[in-house]
Amino acid sequence: MDKFLIEGGRRLSGSISISGAKNACLPILAATLLSDDKSIIRNVPNLRDMSTMLKILKNFGARVQQDADKITIEPKGYKKYIAPYDLVSTMRASVCVLGPLLAKQKRAEVSFPGGCVIGPRPIDLHLKGLRALGVDIKIEKGYIIADGRKMRGANVYLGGHFGSSVLATANTMMAATLIKGVTVIENAACEPEVTDLATFLIKMGAKIKGLGTHQIIIEGVKRLHGAEHSVIADRIEAGTYIIAAAVTKGDITLRNAKLENLVAVADKLAEAGLDIRKVPNGIRARYVRKLKPMDITTLPYPGFPTDLQAQFMSLMTVTEGISVITEKIYPERFIHISELGRMGANIQLEGASAIITGVKSLSGAPVMASDLRASAALVLAGLVAKDVTEVHRIYHLDRGYEDIEEKLTQLGARVWREKER
Ligand code: EPU
Repeated sequence: MDKFLIEGGRRLSGSISISGAKNACLPILAATLLSDDKSIIRNVPNLRDMSTMLKILKNFGARVQQDADKITIEPKGYKKYIAPYDLVSTMRASVCVLGPLLAKQKRAEVSFPGGCVIGPRPIDLHLKGLRALGVDIKIEKGYIIADGRKMRGANVYLGGHFGSSVLATANTMMAATLIKGVTVIENAACEPEVTDLATFLIKMGAKIKGLGTHQIIIEGVKRLHGAEHSVIADRIEAGTYIIAAAVTKGDITLRNAKLENLVAVADKLAEAGLDIRKVPNGIRARYVRKLKPMDITTLPYPGFPTDLQAQFMSLMTVTEGISVITEKIYPERFIHISELGRMGANIQLEGASAIITGVKSLSGAPVMASDLRASAALVLAGLVAKDVTEVHRIYHLDRGYEDIEEKLTQLGARVWREKER
């Protein structure tokens, strides 16, 4: 196992490239199973989650070829439809093979993905969407056993206690592409990653309307063909580096990043005093004045993304005044609070809200990463803390941030990886 060491206190500046979006790429790789033909996916980030998804596709019998950020997948003739526990348990997003398997094979057996450290992660909306399409589903021995022989288009409302669901929308949309009739998903997720998946499906020959809205309409077709697609840039990776600019009083340009996918984030940071603007082919974030405290509430897109909540908290810990975060997607996604506390942060948790009183400085400490975004938050805190911060269990970071130490080093940070003793 590796750990990260960060010597804080350096102002970051310069320019880096943002990688392809993990959360767009995972369902897109799964969607290649909808055709027998070869598909080529470009701008695929080199991350542990991608390797897991490719292992799952290979396990079904698809042929996979990897050449840097280009992945060629040829599922021709694959017959398997079981995603076993040992593959699915390490990555919740594996559940998005359900939709393609049902559409193509009319059956699927996928190990139940379970909860994780950011709180319970039910799949009732996935099951609701698929059942509405006529899929018969049983949960047996920890597996979702789905029979799709009677599938047909239908209307389904996919709203839960916390609003729309990204992967339930993806699963239902993929399942509906190859069945008879028209499917209407109401309260569909409109995250850019869902739109990117729909764009790929359309390239494969699917008939989908309403991209980027809360109503997605899919007209089933008989067959989908292979397609080529380049995945959108990762807005969460971009957001994380924008916060790195803010927290280190730096000036960073992020090539390939799209400001239009980060409107809520840019709005909050601009209000706080950061100069954040669109530049040709990217975003520039520049610290120009002392930042004001912030008040954010996480919500489904285009609201403030939960996947940047922890990173914002790190910024708030060193922003003078009182900031508030209310988490409306994962009310228990606050494990990073205790680790930030070890570095001297002053944070109080009241239900699903965190009240952060800015301190003059953080102090480097050994801290433990608990999930992907919490790990990123600890790295950001380390960048501004006095002395050296040791972030343990960074395998979480390797799931979602491509070349993070190279990119941070390129921007002038002192960060390096060591083996845990
Ligand atoms: N929910 C339900 N029932 C369901 C599905 C979801 O109640 O059947 C609830 C969830 O518990 C949550 C809310 O609905 O409160 C939204 O969850 P959603 O289904 O949208 O999450 P997801 O699709 O499982 C994706 C990302 C997450 C990101 C969320 C929210 C992927 C692979 N994962 O998960 O990304 O936090 O959307 O935006 O796309 C990450 O990258 O670190 C990460 C956790």
